[in-house]
Amino acid sequence: MTDNSLKSWSQVPGMQSAWLLNYDPELYPFARYLRDQVFRVDDLENLHQSNLCKPGTPPGYPDNLRLRQAMQRLPLSSEFYTIYTRFVHELVVRYFGGRISYAARPKMRVHLAGSGSVSRWHRDANVTGRLEQINIWLPATNCFAGNTLWVEDNYGSEHYQPIQVRLGQALFFDGGLLSHGSVANETDSSRVSFDLRFSAASRTPSAMTLRLLAGRPSPSIIAQLCPSLPPPPVSPPQPGLGY
Ligand SMILES: [Fe+2]
Repeated sequence: MTDNSLKSWSQVPGMQSAWLLNYDPELYPFARYLRDQVFRVDDLENLHQSNLCKPGTPPGYPDNLRLRQAMQRLPLSSEFYTIYTRFVHELVVRYFGGRISYAARPKMRVHLAGSGSVSRWHRDANVTGRLEQINIWLPATNCFAGNTLWVEDNYGSEHYQPIQVRLGQALFFDGGLLSHGSVANETDSSRVSFDLRFSAASRTPSAMTLRLLAGRPSPSIIAQLCPSLPPPPVSPPQPGLGY
């Protein structure tokens, strides 16, 4: 039986259009696979102290890049993608109307403790030109403060909040329009995560699609936030509404 209830979800406090999905990390063992098969370390949160990093020198952006490539190189035939495909089909599809299109390969990220920001502030729609997409950000480590994703608390506020996401949670948010990025990781915990975008393709939006997208601002505000988007179509004059 499929459980379509929304009890697995919680809204991120104080945030517009940001929700956490609680999932079972034993059923979807991304973290275990990355720890044991990709990095082969005891603890992903101590990746900066492992033999994959130079002792005595603070890690930098090239280290984040080098380690993330180990994840990015995983073939689609690897167990990671078996877990990934199951997660999308069993959970994302279920809550977003039964039909979605999504990235075959997510973007992999490593943000080592002691390293600088790995992403400037941006709104994805300015890069993708697409407004219908929803972002999923899924860490394989517990994320908080400097090692997590920072997202503005409302459209255009530029007031950023660190989103606390623990292992076993996935953050769903309106990253097309909400500005987001990272800061220097001044915690003593490294972050390993991946993220993807998807669009719900069903005719009738699901409850979760509405939760994520129905609170968007007006088209004129969207045009200000995302100047690289094409202008919204002008609606033709309606009969009976003229002067
Ligand atoms: Fe982004």
